[in-house]
Amino acid sequence: MTTQDMVQLTKTATPVAAVKPHSLETALEAVEKVMFDVVNSDVALLKEASRHILGAGGKRVRPRLVLLTYLAMGGTDLEKVYPVAAALELVHTASVVHDDINDHGVVRRGRPSVNAIWGRTFALLTGDFLFTKVYELMAPYADLNVIFAEATVALVEGETLQAAAVKENNFTREVYYEIIARKTAALFKAGGKLGASLAGGREREIEALGQFGYNIGLAFQIVDDILDMTGDEKQLGKTAGLDAEQGKGFAFVTDEADPMVTIRRKLGAADTVAEGRKQAEKLVQMAVAALDVLPDTEERDALIDLAYSVINRSY
Ligand code: IPE
Ligand code: IPE
Ligand code: MG
Ligand code: MG
Repeated sequence: MTTQDMVQLTKTATPVAAVKPHSLETALEAVEKVMFDVVNSDVALLKEASRHILGAGGKRVRPRLVLLTYLAMGGTDLEKVYPVAAALELVHTASVVHDDINDHGVVRRGRPSVNAIWGRTFALLTGDFLFTKVYELMAPYADLNVIFAEATVALVEGETLQAAAVKENNFTREVYYEIIARKTAALFKAGGKLGASLAGGREREIEALGQFGYNIGLAFQIVDDILDMTGDEKQLGKTAGLDAEQGKGFAFVTDEADPMVTIRRKLGAADTVAEGRKQAEKLVQMAVAALDVLPDTEERDALIDLAYSVINRSY
């Protein structure tokens, strides 16, 4: 037996320990490497602009969700999860690059946005580049591409519905939820489903983890809208107040039964924030309830922590 064989044997023979915080961080580092490597291009601008936005960091909540879901479902081969988690983060990164063009955001992840440095045309193309890299990463994962297809279509639909709602000044509660479900929650739902599928979950478990992701995704966007009004731009690392400027976000949801509520909201009254927080909390509780399908493990606890971090964040 060679030394290499022995190393291999030790590796496979190691019992599956609970997710120690460092193992999640190690996994996230591996995901970073996949992303940085895949955006290589001999077209220097695409490589530089992609690395500019990726290198700025970000919370990486979506790859965390994929990795933790996989582990909580009992998955043991993290290597096969890295490209998928990276692909999901690339979809998200592409979406914020494009979003800053639409929203005229000039700061993103604490750095000048891609459009602020390279202009709108190259930001559009950088976003396209990041999106198309998903094909490359996901090519070996036959069935999982269906999950990506569903989420990416929803994302584009959500951003489109939002632009239309702003134009038509039609921000009923129903429209607002439809928008955030598609532009944000769909990707989180995909994260849960991807992790569960990769771990070999049954249909019922995949759906439950999808539901977990979906509900934290809705809560995530509501909190994002609140932070856009109340948060500190430096801490947020992105241009704040854009939603208010453009007449969108949670504060603009109209209430036909009580037009005064709408007016108070538009003034950014404290009760808007309180209502948003209440909604977000309820959604996180629903998300956590969906985890009943999982055995009570440290990994499941880590998912619960992730859910609460979505509402207890300041950036
Ligand atoms: C910003 O997402 C866009 C929304 C869906 C609200 P994040 O808040 O996850 O952005 P990063 O990745 O941490 O920069
Ligand atoms: C972004 O919504 C959702 C995306 C799909 C990119 P926001 O417009 O609220 O995102 P931020 O606040 O610019 O990150
Ligand atoms: Mg925006
Ligand atoms: Mg926002």
